[in-house]
Amino acid sequence: MKLLFIGDIMGSPGREIVKTYLPLLKRKYQPTYLVVNGENAAHGRGITEKIVKELFESGVHAITLGNHTWDNKEIFDFIDDEPRLIRPANFPQGSPGSGITYIKQAEGELAVINLQGRTFLPPLDCPFQIADKLVEQARKRTKYIFVDFHAEATSEKQAMAWYLDGRVSAVVGTHTHVQTADERILPQGTGFLCDVGMCGPMNGILGMDREAVIKKFRTQLPVRFEVADGPAQLNAVLITLDKASGHARKLERIRIDADHPFME
Ligand SMILES: [Fe+2]
Repeated sequence: MKLLFIGDIMGSPGREIVKTYLPLLKRKYQPTYLVVNGENAAHGRGITEKIVKELFESGVHAITLGNHTWDNKEIFDFIDDEPRLIRPANFPQGSPGSGITYIKQAEGELAVINLQGRTFLPPLDCPFQIADKLVEQARKRTKYIFVDFHAEATSEKQAMAWYLDGRVSAVVGTHTHVQTADERILPQGTGFLCDVGMCGPMNGILGMDREAVIKKFRTQLPVRFEVADGPAQLNAVLITLDKASGHARKLERIRIDADHPFME
């Protein structure tokens, strides 16, 4: 059983590269489950109903979000009607949407949980306490559990992975847009990758137009960031799950760009 998780899709360049390579990735890896992080899919901020539909039509089973969840206001009109689109579970109680969803396949059901870190990000509810609650709930249904931990600090992501070791199949980070090379399987069987990286312009800064970002750093003046132009990259991870235990057997990082062409 395989789970393909595609990192933060950045605006139209991110959507385009996913559209181009998703059929090839599906053919090559034959994933049982396909999950993407879509919190930057609409011009780098939030997601629209049209994009959600396009992603599901392309074969995506579940979409996770993050700190940009509410940036595109139309999300309030559809998030409660779309259980396959989830936002961080530790948003304040009563927030629209849900932080957990289940993907049903013949091989078994995968629980997908979305959480957000609190280091260098807004002070949400405790992601560790919410993880305890949701993992306990999910384990009553299935042993296949995936966590997208949308967080800035590598330490917080490592802490979550070690905290959940043995209780979930994998913890993979999103949000920094930079793929880390630390994939491993922890002693109790949980797969971990600190950040899966993004799908978006490779010559921007985290996918944003670099002139604007550099200006912001140099002047500290208010600057409007736009998604960059130019060639894009796709970052993802393929997680092989052990059918009997639900643990991760293998994590394979995927990176496609001009320097790392896709190999059939
Ligand atoms: Fe983010």
